[in-house]
Amino acid sequence: MNDFYSGRVVWITGASSGIGEALVYKFVSNGSRVVASSCDSDQLDRVADRCSGMKGSITAVPFDLADTAAIEKLAGEVAAKEGRIDILLNIGGVSQRALIIDTPLWLDRRIMEVNYFGTIALTKAVLPHMISAGGGHIVATSSISGRFGFPLRSAYSASKQALHGFFETLLLEHKKDNIRVSVLIPGRVRTKISFSALTASGKEHGKMDEGLDKGITPERAAEQIIRGLKRNRREILVGSSELLMLSIRKYFPALFFRLAGKIKPT
Ligand SMILES: NC(=O)c1ccc[n+]([C@@H]2O[C@H](COP(=O)([O-])OP(=O)(O)OC[C@H]3O[C@@H](n4cnc5c(N)ncnc54)[C@H](OP(=O)(O)O)[C@@H]3O)[C@@H](O)[C@H]2O)c1
Repeated sequence: MNDFYSGRVVWITGASSGIGEALVYKFVSNGSRVVASSCDSDQLDRVADRCSGMKGSITAVPFDLADTAAIEKLAGEVAAKEGRIDILLNIGGVSQRALIIDTPLWLDRRIMEVNYFGTIALTKAVLPHMISAGGGHIVATSSISGRFGFPLRSAYSASKQALHGFFETLLLEHKKDNIRVSVLIPGRVRTKISFSALTASGKEHGKMDEGLDKGITPERAAEQIIRGLKRNRREILVGSSELLMLSIRKYFPALFFRLAGKIKPT
């Protein structure tokens, strides 16, 4: 079982907080060599400090997912330094709290840049290194709102839905190269995602959503994710009873639209 972790080079984006941070501790404590990324180098240093004394190692590589022009060079540097990249966990992302009618197009683009283009840019940059090393596992993070529309999340939902198309294609095109692909579908995980969610002005929402506060912990989410990765699941559901909405949307769409339509924008 330890082979899953030990000595593996695991690149984790969104590593400064929430689900990504919890995954960092799982991998480092079990002996992996983690490359931890987000925009915030101070927070990455905090995470690295917490890893001191653990079995594995951590290297902070800060970068902005929206800066797609810089990503290819960065991936080359990481691959050269680490020798290979075994697992890429694309966890970093930003949410939204704004109605369509209030959301300026630049904000739609900003959310797409971070959640979609940043994620696929890093994936495309890492892919050739994985192929030449004989394979690897690439993970993207969607959301339950990557499976249906949801009030106040138009660009967020669109960016996550786009990931499904890209990563299913990646799996189909590169199975022959021993590239495994998994898409995480979290429901509610108690993180700061609603605090940093962008409002119509582009400022942070700055509040904890009531629903999110009832979500599972990031540690529990990391356990569910790792169980799914070990089983090489194409899709990994992360969360609790809220995941029922996925089945309601699929099998009882009229009921879904009735329920989701009752949600009051806050
Ligand atoms: N929590 C949930 O209930 C939930 C539900 C569905 C999906 N998700 C998804 O799960 C993933 C992790 O979210 P979380 O819940 O753990 O939230 P979080 O605690 O807010 O973590 C988000 C992470 O993304 C990083 N990030 C944001 N913008 C970035 C940028 N421009 N460049 C680089 N890194 C950036 C943040 O780092 P810095 O701010 O330090 O850059 C942070 O490390 C996200 O993709 C989110 O959409 C979460």
